[in-house]
Amino acid sequence: MTFTPEQARRDIPILNRVLPNGRNLVYLDNAATTQKPQQVISAISNYYETTNSNVHRAVHTLAGEATDAYEGARSKIAEWFGIGDGYLIFTAGTTEAINLAAYAWGRHNLVAGDVVVLTEMEHHSDIVPWQMLAQEREIEIRWVPLQVETSSLDMEVFAASMEGAKLVGCIHTSNVLGVRNPVEEVIRLAHSAGARVILDAAQAAPHDRLNIAESGADMVAVSAHKMCGPTGIGALMVNAETFAEMQPFIGGGDMIREVFLDHSTYQEGVHRFEAGTPKIAEAIGWGAAIDWLAQWDIAEIHSHALGLARHTAAGLREIEGMRVFGDHGDGDGAVVSFIHDKLHSEDMAHMLDAHGIAVRTGHHCAQPLLRKLGLTSTNRVSFYLYNTMAEADFFLATVRDLVARFT
Ligand SMILES: Cc1ncc(COP(=O)(O)O)c(C=O)c1O
Repeated sequence: MTFTPEQARRDIPILNRVLPNGRNLVYLDNAATTQKPQQVISAISNYYETTNSNVHRAVHTLAGEATDAYEGARSKIAEWFGIGDGYLIFTAGTTEAINLAAYAWGRHNLVAGDVVVLTEMEHHSDIVPWQMLAQEREIEIRWVPLQVETSSLDMEVFAASMEGAKLVGCIHTSNVLGVRNPVEEVIRLAHSAGARVILDAAQAAPHDRLNIAESGADMVAVSAHKMCGPTGIGALMVNAETFAEMQPFIGGGDMIREVFLDHSTYQEGVHRFEAGTPKIAEAIGWGAAIDWLAQWDIAEIHSHALGLARHTAAGLREIEGMRVFGDHGDGDGAVVSFIHDKLHSEDMAHMLDAHGIAVRTGHHCAQPLLRKLGLTSTNRVSFYLYNTMAEADFFLATVRDLVARFT
């Protein structure tokens, strides 16, 4: 089907919301989380209305249906990302996926003196788990610098950091700058040094099917809620070699084969990493989000959202005193961070909110990156498939007006 934002909007009830101040919602905070189509909402409520049951355990009809729906969602999501369903572990989101990698893989494969290479562009979720492990294990973390002028990683330093590296953690697409990193080169350099690679693809997954098996990445972390799916679910997707090196992290029901008083044995497949009652309704909702997005070509969705970001970045750059980040090249995210030299970012966000416009403000969970830019906060607008040029223009006109009135 040919993509239009109007078609997508028709399915999303919240976009008709009138805010308490009487303004129509203009939702430009999609990098934080995306809005949900009725199809996703209905899939979740339909599950609770007709099928709700625990999975994998009982033999009754509902248990069978719930198990089929849960595992069916896994297969669909895995196929979307181009990886076998035996290698997609459901987690609570990207954050938990990276923590799972640090515990289930890192703790069993990294020892004192090993090197983990990270970049200054990382989200906190790809920094803190590795710092925690590094402190526990005396692991060295090396940092690949951000080059502020070009909003890019210093790939020379990256290459030079590879000696002795066992793991590279890299953000696929920056949630602050929108920059898509040269992940192919990152993977190539890491593998030639014998290091594994984990990609934080939280911002990439809504715009790109990733084709994980072909990409060669060892581990990829994503969140459903950033691609019109529910909150509370995401995945760590891993290749077979990495999977074989992982040991269980959370212990309990469902992940075991047999439990004795003195020891337990574990399941072989993905379930060994999904202890306890899993995220059943959430997985079904994520599957429905994939079905909904799959009506269109993801490349068209991306090019529409990126077009809005380019238009917005260009418009903001025309405003005196405005600093705008990223250059919004073809593969980049639809994210525009900006800061005005006389209007505090928080004030800007409050004033935009008074016009119904939802934007993000703050450090975007990337304090090292913000520090490198010499800032503590930016404003950020981020677009997705249901945003329109009229919304981008309304946002720009509002910012122009605010700057003219308050500076
Ligand atoms: C690049 C990036 N990584 C990780 C995360 C964390 O995702 P979640 O909060 O869904 O775990 C986010 C969310 O903002 C993100 O943008």
